[in-house]
Amino acid sequence: MAMTTNLVQAFHTQIQAEFQSAYVYLSMAAWFTENNLPGFATWMRVQWEEETQHAMKLVDFLHNRGEAVALHAIASPTATYSSPLDVFERVREHEQKITASINALYETSLQEKDLPSQIVLQWFINEQVEEEATVVDIIERLRMVGSDGPSIYLFDREMGARTLTNA
Ligand code: FEO
Repeated sequence: MAMTTNLVQAFHTQIQAEFQSAYVYLSMAAWFTENNLPGFATWMRVQWEEETQHAMKLVDFLHNRGEAVALHAIASPTATYSSPLDVFERVREHEQKITASINALYETSLQEKDLPSQIVLQWFINEQVEEEATVVDIIERLRMVGSDGPSIYLFDREMGARTLTNA
C-alpha cells in the first residue's frame, strides 16, 4: 500500500532532523578536539555516525516502500560551547526536540493508518528513551566531576572507549 503524501513529507522532515543532529554532534566533536578532550570527541563522532545511520534507516525505509526521498537543507551549527557540561545540556535539549518530532511522526502514521511506518518508528521511540537516559547519566557525572582536573581526564578516557554499533 502506498504511503500518503502527507506521511512521506513528514518522513522527509525527520530525515532532515537526523542529518541536522549528525551535523550538530560533529560540531561538538570538533569543540572537544579543540579543547583537548579526545575521548569526548570520539564519543561525539560516534554519535555523529549514529545519527547518520538513523537518517539512512529512514531513507532506506522510504525506498523500500517505493517512495522518493527529498533531502532538505541542513543548517550550520553555529553554537559556541562553554564547558563539557554546557555541551551535554544542549545535547539533552536537542534530543528532547528529536523525541517530540519522532512522537509527532508516529502520531501521523497512526492517523494515516500506515502500519509499516508505525513499526519502524517504534524502534526510534525506543532509541530516544535510551539516548535521553544516556545523556542524563553523562550530565549527572559531569556535574560531579566538573570541567578540569584528574577526574575529567579519567572520564575522557572512558568516553573514548565508545564504538559504533549498527542500528
Ligand atoms: Fe537520531 Fe539522537 O536521535
